[in-house]
Amino acid sequence: MDYIRRPPGLIRVSRRNLAVRYRAAAVGPKMGPMRQQWADYWMFLREFRRTFESTGAVLPSGPALGHALAHFVREGASGSNGGGRRILEVGPGTGAVTGHIVRALRPGDELELVERNDDFVDRLRDRLQSDEMLRPSADRITLHHAGVEELPEDRPFDVIVSGLPLNNFSIAFVDELLGKLGRLLAPGGTLSFFEYVAIRHMKASLSRRAERERLRGIGQLLDNFLREHEIRRDRVLVNLPPAWVHHVRLKSK
Ligand SMILES: C[S@@+](CC[C@H](N)C(=O)[O-])C[C@H]1O[C@@H](n2cnc3c(N)ncnc32)[C@H](O)[C@@H]1O
Repeated sequence: MDYIRRPPGLIRVSRRNLAVRYRAAAVGPKMGPMRQQWADYWMFLREFRRTFESTGAVLPSGPALGHALAHFVREGASGSNGGGRRILEVGPGTGAVTGHIVRALRPGDELELVERNDDFVDRLRDRLQSDEMLRPSADRITLHHAGVEELPEDRPFDVIVSGLPLNNFSIAFVDELLGKLGRLLAPGGTLSFFEYVAIRHMKASLSRRAERERLRGIGQLLDNFLREHEIRRDRVLVNLPPAWVHHVRLKSK
């Protein structure tokens, strides 16, 4: 690991330049929580327009969806080695779900975040330094500025929470991502992810043939995956839009 000093905090950068771990720095909040929330909404909308495919949502997840996604962080068993758990959040965006995960961390747990959007990474860095909720846990949170597909697979995770907008990707990429998430899971580990209720069908009915084919292919992949591995499903109506949260444990692990 190399250390670089950049005001206002000490930043640790891994050799592969992927991981950025923050030591909390002595900075106060820059805006009140309400203004910050509006700023996050605005950032999300802007990123949705700029990078529609990978952002995949107009708004960050609401509290009920964040709570449902963090179910196995709250309720799950202890780590595969009997100690603290390794937890991964994929696509944390502005950190709307991260707060729910952090609240449920137990002593010894470690959280890794992997986000590929530059602006969201900057926002998360900022929150790790100054946000009342995240800052106290910052020394056990590692932020990777990368796509999840680039993460090494040598240290699997007990819990994975994913915000990836799977319906926006190609069928081949969704297949690759499901395989990757499976390889990142430790034996007995759980993967939780969401999809908006009925969005795939609605989009398909308004789309041209090629797009309908793509959405149908993703639907088939997800149906097969869930038929085999889903252990729990939550419907979150109090979210814009309403969402299904799928919780999965791989049978083959
Ligand atoms: C629908 S948003 C969810 C954001 C946040 N989890 C929430 O619920 O508000 C999808 C997020 O996944 C990120 N993302 C998309 N593709 C990714 C990839 N291959 N690896 C890591 N993050 C990715 C996007 O940049 C975005 O932050």
